[in-house]
Amino acid sequence: MSPTPVTGTPPEAETPLAALIARQIRLTGPLPVSAYMALCLGHPQHGYYTTRDPLGAGGDFTTAPEISQMFGEMLGLWAAHCWLAMGSPAGVALVELGPGRGTLMADALRATARVPGFHAALRPHLVETSPVLRQRQAAALAALPAPPAPVWHDRLEEVPEGPLLLLANEFFDALPIRQLVRQEHRGRLLWAERKVGLDADGRLAWVLDPAAGEALVPPALRGSPPGSVVELAPAAAAVAQEIGGRLARAPGAALMVDYGHAGPAVGDTLQAVRRHRFADPLEAPGEADLTAHVDFAALAAALRAGGAAAWGPVTQGDLLSALVSGPAPPS
Ligand SMILES: C[S@@+](CC[C@H](N)C(=O)[O-])C[C@H]1O[C@@H](n2cnc3c(N)ncnc32)[C@H](O)[C@@H]1O
Repeated sequence: MSPTPVTGTPPEAETPLAALIARQIRLTGPLPVSAYMALCLGHPQHGYYTTRDPLGAGGDFTTAPEISQMFGEMLGLWAAHCWLAMGSPAGVALVELGPGRGTLMADALRATARVPGFHAALRPHLVETSPVLRQRQAAALAALPAPPAPVWHDRLEEVPEGPLLLLANEFFDALPIRQLVRQEHRGRLLWAERKVGLDADGRLAWVLDPAAGEALVPPALRGSPPGSVVELAPAAAAVAQEIGGRLARAPGAALMVDYGHAGPAVGDTLQAVRRHRFADPLEAPGEADLTAHVDFAALAAALRAGGAAAWGPVTQGDLLSALVSGPAPPS
């Protein structure tokens, strides 16, 4: 059956990327949300992160490292503490996934400059696909008095194996998700995939493809009521499994901070943000940030599948309080 249009976008909203995506849909059919997100955020010419620095008051959104230098300083001291607990190994990779303007990494390095031996033992590795943000990161690190020489990568897989300290703030929520919707089709309740297609006027529109199959839905959620949305994050799971494998093969620790929920849950969390306001995700592809909440249980499962132990999630407030004062004594 052909997918069902459920909404359309206003005609004045066309962007260069909208035209390219519409052409691709005419050629190959509706795109899963994951393919649409990947194009919107990472298209080599028109992708959101390819073309701009979106952070800060003059951009679309702001993040914790941009609000207070203490955020990066605390995470840097956490990394230094882990390094000491690991036995202070040489050749440790201090990896940041999606480092934005490089503020967190710069604050982390500045805060840890006096930890004896730490900077001599580490190399900063910045996993970043945006050429614009790579330049911002290079400038942020170059402004430090004696920064360890950084290396950039498109993917975590490019970072050399070995002792690992990994930080990621608001990285996993930028990775593409798939969405499955429970709906009635020919008298039967089934799980359809939400895709981006075209409406009768050729504008981008949500469509439902009933061919998805409920095998994709976590068993605990298969009986959810009609209209429920389940999100899958295969790209996030692949990165988490890669981290887990690295932590199983060498000493290390990883700290991921993000918006999300603690376990399998239903809900449509795909959101577009432009100029600090929510927007329609289909309205201006390549011009708005697209994110989805992180399923921390799925992230932990992928880390464990890779071979690592995983804890959390805890709230960011509890994390920062514990980093300031140490964990609460057992009651
Ligand atoms: C929301 S910003 C967060 C920036 C920074 N961590 C902060 O807290 O300010 C997301 C970051 O991830 C990067 N990014 C998005 N998708 C990526 C991908 N697939 N691989 C590597 N970096 C990516 C973006 O370019 C950007 O630096």
